[in-house]
Amino acid sequence: MGDRGLFITLEGSEGCGKTTQSQALGEFLKQQGYNVLLTREPGGTAIGEQIRAILGDQQNTAMHLRTEVLLFQASRAQLVEEVIRPHLARQGIVVCDRYADSTLAYQGYGYQRIPMEQVRALVEFATGGLQPHLTLLLDLEVEIGLRRRTRGGELNRLDTYALDFYQRVRDGYLEMARQQPERWVIVNAEPPFEVVQAELRRHVLARLQKA
Ligand code: TYD
Repeated sequence: MGDRGLFITLEGSEGCGKTTQSQALGEFLKQQGYNVLLTREPGGTAIGEQIRAILGDQQNTAMHLRTEVLLFQASRAQLVEEVIRPHLARQGIVVCDRYADSTLAYQGYGYQRIPMEQVRALVEFATGGLQPHLTLLLDLEVEIGLRRRTRGGELNRLDTYALDFYQRVRDGYLEMARQQPERWVIVNAEPPFEVVQAELRRHVLARLQKA
């Protein structure tokens, strides 16, 4: 590993298993002896988790899209400064369940109501330009993902989008992956958990060997 740690993000649309996969990946890397920090967005800090609660509150139906995009950036800015940069400075590995590409995919490609350059500028401001070294995209057909998603009846305000919205999100992710192939790896999220996990580990270990 280089002298600046390794920053890995996991991205993907609903029902791709990203969260359980991130946790398993983080545990695996810890067992391998790496100094791993597992975190998530929105959230990951005390301030970020409060912002997450605002974003997830179904009563906040009046929230404007610009407010929403800024809240995601506020949570991210705090996470970058409080958690991610310090851990990378200690030469650790950061595994983050969603990061800046989620804003580009959802608020950018998904909504298509804020010009992409503006979304990019906001993300740039929030992250201070910090980009992941490796982004693992758990790619899944939209309908399979939505069918898989079971939230025990708990309906999140963020989950009430239409099918075509999720299609734009998926296509957006795939386009970003194509534009920056040196950073992105596309992993098929359809096979069983263990198969997908093995694939993720393979890519991360390969990246660690290169670094
Ligand atoms: P979460 O419950 O973490 O869902 P998931 O398991 O799919 O990650 O909720 C996060 C939701 O927030 C998810 O629908 C994606 C969305 N999101 C954005 O729209 N923009 C962002 O910048 C981020 C980080 C998340």
